[in-house]
Amino acid sequence: MTDVSVLPSLIGKDATHEQVVFCNDPHSGLRAVIAIHSTALGPALGGTRFHPYATEEEAVADALALARGMTYKNALAGLDHGGGKAVIIGDPSRDKTEALLRAYGRFVQSLGGRYITACDVGTYVEDMDVVARECDHVTGRSPAHGGAGDSSILTAYGVHQGMRAAARHAWGAPSLAGRRVGVAGVGKVGHHLVDHLVEEGARVVVCDVNDAAVRRVVERHPEVEVVPDAPTLVRADLDVYAPCALGGALDDPTVEALTARIVCGAANNQLAHPGVEQALADRGVLYAPDYVVNSGGVIQVADEIEGFVFERARARAARIHDTALRIFELADAEGVPPAVAADRMAERRMAEIGRLRGIHLRGR
Ligand SMILES: NC(=O)c1ccc[n+]([C@@H]2O[C@H](COP(=O)([O-])OP(=O)(O)OC[C@H]3O[C@@H](n4cnc5c(N)ncnc54)[C@H](O)[C@@H]3O)[C@@H](O)[C@H]2O)c1
Repeated sequence: MTDVSVLPSLIGKDATHEQVVFCNDPHSGLRAVIAIHSTALGPALGGTRFHPYATEEEAVADALALARGMTYKNALAGLDHGGGKAVIIGDPSRDKTEALLRAYGRFVQSLGGRYITACDVGTYVEDMDVVARECDHVTGRSPAHGGAGDSSILTAYGVHQGMRAAARHAWGAPSLAGRRVGVAGVGKVGHHLVDHLVEEGARVVVCDVNDAAVRRVVERHPEVEVVPDAPTLVRADLDVYAPCALGGALDDPTVEALTARIVCGAANNQLAHPGVEQALADRGVLYAPDYVVNSGGVIQVADEIEGFVFERARARAARIHDTALRIFELADAEGVPPAVAADRMAERRMAEIGRLRGIHLRGR
């Protein structure tokens, strides 16, 4: 598929990845990129995104950025996993077939366990069951196949833990009771987060572009307020803003308009560009790094590799509270925004634990 001569320039932009694999099976129509950013902490773990990228360059760039993000997320989740991610180029509603998924599974298998795949945007637990017919290195499977099912439950739980840590750091007590919390996007994760917040006694305001998603929340919790859109929510009188829809939620106009003291939500890649983390800090907003607080999902799929035990996975997701707190303290101590402190803490763990491989043990 891709002219390999362009590879160095594509990867050169972000040259720390260990391995990038192009997968091509013309008969099934499979065109995929598997990016392994790091195996310093163990086999790379990260989902497979199925998306109609306009160009192969765009697909490679996304795979590289997503894989790098997983390295940091997995490191701070305390997992023995490095970071990787795969993208399949195509429209999942049109192009996803059994043959394509199984062809993809054979490519993942060819990596011998250096990369373990799971679901992401455009792929579902049933798809992982199909991939697993050709491959041993698949998690995020359906309960019928020993999988843990919907990861949004522990993702929302982890975000709530991170939010409690932020409240503790900002206000001295790990509680959202009486606080006004705005949740932008009440899909799979957002609506579970609303459940936790309402149960804790927070005053919740939501918005979503999908009316059915809003209705589901209001039917469960009639006391929840609804505003028309995210810009309105950002300007509302909030204590906490929780972006739970798409990436890039924190851009310059949003930071400028924010009333909340804390930002803590599930969405991946919330910072629209480098520098936003500093702009938030300059405005006195405490930002809980997205990849730290939304790691409940990957904690769940990692647990599944051992044979899923919900309570064990939840206990691990509960530690997001302490990790977030340590990040806020490190940020204060080092005079940097929490996003920078989180990266430093992840890099420290990778260096300390990755170094142990220097002590030779047969077969490990
Ligand atoms: N599901 C997980 O376990 C998990 C884990 C880690 C991170 N995340 C991230 O959390 C976010 C939410 O994931 P999800 O699984 O709940 O997805 P989802 O698609 O179920 O929910 C997203 C919701 O946001 C709404 N939305 C989209 N654009 C919006 C806008 N401009 N304003 C307001 N609402 C809007 C959608 O209508 C939808 O209801 C994503 O960024 C995802 O990458 C999810």
